[in-house]
Amino acid sequence: MNTTNQPTNPVAIITGGADGLGFSIAERLVRKGARVALFDFNEEALQKAQRQLGEPTFVAKVDVADRVAVGVAVEAVAEAFGRIDILINCAGVTGRTNIKSHEVDLEDFNRVMRVNVNGCLNTFQAVAPHMLRQAYGRVLHFASISGKEGNAGMLAYSTSKAAVIGMTKVQGKEYAGTGLTVNAIAPAVIFTDMVAKLPPEQVKYMTDKIPMSRCGTKDEVAALCEFIVSAEASFTTGFTFDISGGRATY
Ligand SMILES: NC(=O)c1ccc[n+]([C@@H]2O[C@H](COP(=O)([O-])OP(=O)(O)OC[C@H]3O[C@@H](n4cnc5c(N)ncnc54)[C@H](O)[C@@H]3O)[C@@H](O)[C@H]2O)c1
Repeated sequence: MNTTNQPTNPVAIITGGADGLGFSIAERLVRKGARVALFDFNEEALQKAQRQLGEPTFVAKVDVADRVAVGVAVEAVAEAFGRIDILINCAGVTGRTNIKSHEVDLEDFNRVMRVNVNGCLNTFQAVAPHMLRQAYGRVLHFASISGKEGNAGMLAYSTSKAAVIGMTKVQGKEYAGTGLTVNAIAPAVIFTDMVAKLPPEQVKYMTDKIPMSRCGTKDEVAALCEFIVSAEASFTTGFTFDISGGRATY
């Protein structure tokens, strides 16, 4: 294993990092010595997150669907920290839920795809040249159990997360041997604001399918993510990690 390019204080970009799972991951990486850059479109949450994480946290108000803004923000991180080691694509939206496919509004469907799928590609394309130059990188895309199994009532979201899993498989193969690993994580229901905002019947539909009969916690997700983006996780790429309380056994 080539260890020469592994940084001691890695630089991590986390999209959707101002809140929810992204913020929990940021807290954990900072505790381990990482320098983090949070991309999020919620400015108030970004300011709060920066205060909580302290220096040298970098924040940028960015809509990940906006390719130009993503490119500008990534270059600003590279200039501020001199390198980019980790990309965690956490920003995601559900769109309208608890509806059947024939009721799905195309504009809502397209918006979910632009954020959840194009968002991952936009950040990846901006970050990859930096990682390839240093022959080291860890990329982690947020998929979902719904991308593996399809959650009824969530057509746009499930379709977008299946696309993220496909993207991960392709990128894992394309960059194997370059020092970059590209993996995904597929959580079942984890208790965050995103879940709190869903209709109760949609949440019950999801927790009823979990053998552990509960939501996962943000800490449980952050712990697995910390491992996936660590230097030690060097022989796994193109893989979608499960974190589903026993729901997915494949
Ligand atoms: N919570 C769960 O149960 C669960 C399950 C499976 C997958 N996921 C995935 O995990 C990721 C994080 O989910 P969460 O529960 O923490 O969500 P959350 O809603 O609590 O947080 C998401 C963050 O992303 C930001 N965001 C949303 N759209 C954005 C955009 N276009 N550009 C920039 N920032 C944007 C929000 O402002 C927010 O800070 C998502 O991709 C989600 O699909 C969550």
